[in-house]
This record gives sequence, structure tokens and C-alpha cells, in this order.
Amino acid sequence: MKLLSNIKLLIAADGGASSGKTTASKLIAKKYGLKLLTSGLLYRFVAYKLLKTKKINSRNLFLKKITKKITLKDLKNRNLFKPEVTKYTSKIAKIKRIRNLLKSYQINFAKNRLCIIEGRDIGTVIIPKADLKLYFKCSLNTKAKRRFKEYRKTNKKISFNEIKKAIKLRDSSDSKRKISPLKPAKDAVIVDTSKINKKQMLIKLSKIIEKKLKEIYGRNL
Ligand code: C5P
Repeated sequence: MKLLSNIKLLIAADGGASSGKTTASKLIAKKYGLKLLTSGLLYRFVAYKLLKTKKINSRNLFLKKITKKITLKDLKNRNLFKPEVTKYTSKIAKIKRIRNLLKSYQINFAKNRLCIIEGRDIGTVIIPKADLKLYFKCSLNTKAKRRFKEYRKTNKKISFNEIKKAIKLRDSSDSKRKISPLKPAKDAVIVDTSKINKKQMLIKLSKIIEKKLKEIYGRNL
């Protein structure tokens, strides 16, 4: 179901690690023909670059340079999901300068009339005027099961308990940080993904989106 060209729909999707927000955002983007930005990849990219570049004479200049021209190819790098990169990402995500540099990229992306951006602070900081704000939550056990399944595909030698601990730590660090912490916007719709599969998730989200469109445009679309 592609939306009509005169319709504008800007969706902010936030949530903790493995909360189901990326899967949900991909499903929504495909169904409604929205452009999707997975903002976590931007932070992962910066973390990866910083880890790789051992000697930085001018860190600020380096950051400016790499955040200015991030390409889709940069964001498709599988190395961005290595456990050490993931862990470091949460650390650098606390740095105001890095957040500001990446904010411009996201604001620019939000100029698309039909788009969805997913992350941690999208509804609260990046696009507080989004048409719809979604906040995904999920039990820690289900989150760890999901991530464990993903890691098993690439044969990572990491135990279920290690994964569970890492997710808990990352969510805690993301929620407790001073700048742009992970939290639902006041007007966010909370979506609990603990006990639903992909199909059920899409049905649930479609209802929320179509209700919102009806609210804005006053008719079924
Ligand atoms: O979404 P993902 O798990 O790939 O994000 C990796 C990390 O990037 C998060 O744990 C968080 O520290 C950071 N992040 C953020 N703000 C966003 C998206 C991601 O701080 N909007």
C-alpha cells in the first residue's frame, strides 16, 4: 500500500536494544513506501572509525570529516555489529559533539515527506514534531533470545547470558545518560513486542498508522 503523493508522514520509532524497532521500521517502510533511516548505524559508524583510527591528532577535525560524508555503503559494513563496536558505540553516543554532528544528518533525512527514523531520541530530540511517535519495549529475555539467534547465524562465540548482560548494560547506559537519553516521548504510542511475531507486529502497527492518518487527513487512505 503506497501512500498518495500529497500525503506527508514522518514517523519516529524509538526503543532499547533488540526491542524490535528495526524489524518493525523495515516492515512499515516497505508497506507504506517510506524511506528508512536506522540512526544507530550512524553512531556505530563513528564508533567503528574511532576504534580503527588509533592516532588522532585532531579528533574534532576527524569527527567533522567523517560525519560530513557518510555513505550508504559505510552503513552497510558488517563490522559495525561486532560486539566491541556495539559496546563502544554506547560510550561515544554520550558525547554531545558527536550527537550534534549526527543530528544534522538526521534532520536532513527528515526532509523526506515520507519517512521513518528509528533510534533512541528520535521522538524526543531529533523530530519532536513527527506525525507519529512509536516507542518499542520488550522483556529482557525475549531481547536476549532475538540477539542470540542473530549472533548464532554468524557463529559468534558468545553465550546467551553474556548477550543478556550486554543488552542490559547498554540499555541502562542509553537510558541514564544526560544528553538525549532513551525514553518515550510524552505522546508516544507504546508497542510491546515481547509476545508478538512479525505478522502480528505489522497488523498492530498498521492499525496505529492508519488511525493516525485518518486523524490527520480525516478519511481512510
Ligand atoms: O540501534 P542500535 O542498537 O544499532 O544503536 C547502537 C547504539 O547507538 C545504542 O546503544 C546507542 O548508544 C546509540 N544510539 C543513540 N541514539 C540513537 C541511535 C543509537 O545514542 N538515536
